[in-house]
Amino acid sequence: MRFFLSVLLFAGLTAGAQTKITFNTDLTGPRINKHIYGHFAEHLGKCIYGGIYVGENNTKIPNVQGIRNDVVQALKELKVPNLRWPGGCFADTYQWKDGIGPKADRPKMVNVWWGGVTEDNSFGTHDFLDLCERIGAEPYLAGNVGSGTVKDLSDWVSYVNNPGGSPMSELRKKNGREKPWNVKLWGVGNEAWGCGGNMTAEYYANIYRQYATFMTDWDNNAKLYKIASGATDGDYGWTETLMKNIPHKMLAGVALHHYSVLSWEDKGPSVDFTEAQYFKSMQEASQMDEFITGHSTIMDKYDPEKKVALIVDEWGGWYNVEPGTNPGFLYQQNTMRDAVIAGLTLNIFNNHADRVRGANLAQVVNVLQSVILTNEEKMLLTPTYHVMKMYNVHQDAALVPINIESPLYEFQGKALKAVSSSASKDESGAINISLTNIDYSKAHEVVINLRGESFARVSGQILSAAKIRDHNTFENPQKVSIKSFSGAVLDKGILKLVIPAYSVITLKVTK
Ligand code: AHR
Repeated sequence: MRFFLSVLLFAGLTAGAQTKITFNTDLTGPRINKHIYGHFAEHLGKCIYGGIYVGENNTKIPNVQGIRNDVVQALKELKVPNLRWPGGCFADTYQWKDGIGPKADRPKMVNVWWGGVTEDNSFGTHDFLDLCERIGAEPYLAGNVGSGTVKDLSDWVSYVNNPGGSPMSELRKKNGREKPWNVKLWGVGNEAWGCGGNMTAEYYANIYRQYATFMTDWDNNAKLYKIASGATDGDYGWTETLMKNIPHKMLAGVALHHYSVLSWEDKGPSVDFTEAQYFKSMQEASQMDEFITGHSTIMDKYDPEKKVALIVDEWGGWYNVEPGTNPGFLYQQNTMRDAVIAGLTLNIFNNHADRVRGANLAQVVNVLQSVILTNEEKMLLTPTYHVMKMYNVHQDAALVPINIESPLYEFQGKALKAVSSSASKDESGAINISLTNIDYSKAHEVVINLRGESFARVSGQILSAAKIRDHNTFENPQKVSIKSFSGAVLDKGILKLVIPAYSVITLKVTK
């Protein structure tokens, strides 16, 4: 009891009602696919140029072949399972053949979606796939369907995957890469209903069938995993049309995009938000559960065995750009609001592991809800980075089904569940539990009943901050960082703790 009081005093808050959770630790569910923890790198603002790639001749920022060493190290430590590239909207304008061969000879292009800037194509296919090898991530290539051709995309597959003998594999070898990369994950266009070509679902379903037909599984290790451009938010009709009209043997996954945005007209500030704006962000983030449930229900109708995955390949908080930055560059700060959006969303993904088998946070560096921000030679890790890192224990572990009763976070007559959670069992039999409290001001007492097995020890980590708007800056990059958490008490299969307002906790219980 003394412990609970001291936590409450530390948080300067009063505790709300109790959260009651039961985990049946002997009844594990599906595997939480590690690809749920994927990231996204688009040619947008300073994500690629400046954030990841600074050029081979840069002597100020340590790099190998132009790719920043600090960013590579941070992404390696994050255990990024896959990285999506080159977009986003950019993908449907990208001519991959302009990004191979001697850099001095590459044609320039204008990035029409993002700031109208001219790019020199110095970061291309080899650079991206080398980056993935360096960070240990699987590449996820998004093909150009909106303004490309079937031949371009089938050539790209051949260029990166054909072991030898095809015109494209010979071109790859001429460009310095002998072995194929065996890229498995492929997006067939992006947001085909919008920036990817403003297509109808019926039209796109036909186009998908055509493109997918010519994306060949070469006789090597790369069995292609083709993902259809999916719906946004609650556009269930889009998913239904794809599931009905595309033969499932040519469809590994259907995408879904959902951003936590206040309104597309005015997205609000990334740091100096009001409680009303914070509450709306939480409403939007919580809706991910409703959208996944809705799309999964339709998928269940056409695919009861759940062979086709739901891939949430764009998600995250989206705010107004930082004052003084290019509006087309989508550069925003990252506070404890973003940390709890990440914790809440990852809990939702984990608990839907039967259907959600991939996801990509938008975006990895300097764009939207980034895990990394850079400024010339400086780099910082955001609160979102820390949450993604705390949660990576769930990658490929077995989901432990949850039963949860959460107190409410109430604001002006509206209410959301304050505490969310998910858990998994790893290969050693340890249970990893994640908890997120989105409440703006109240800590909550949590009581967890661990049924089915006996556990002896608990350890933990916490991401919390004195103020909800706290964030890391280049001057103070450690302001929000992971601390060890010894506040959970385990007694006879019952875990008790208090989770401070706007914080994220992970616990490990072992026998
Ligand atoms: O992530 C930014 C943009 O959001 C992507 O390019 C697009 O797919 C989505 O609309």
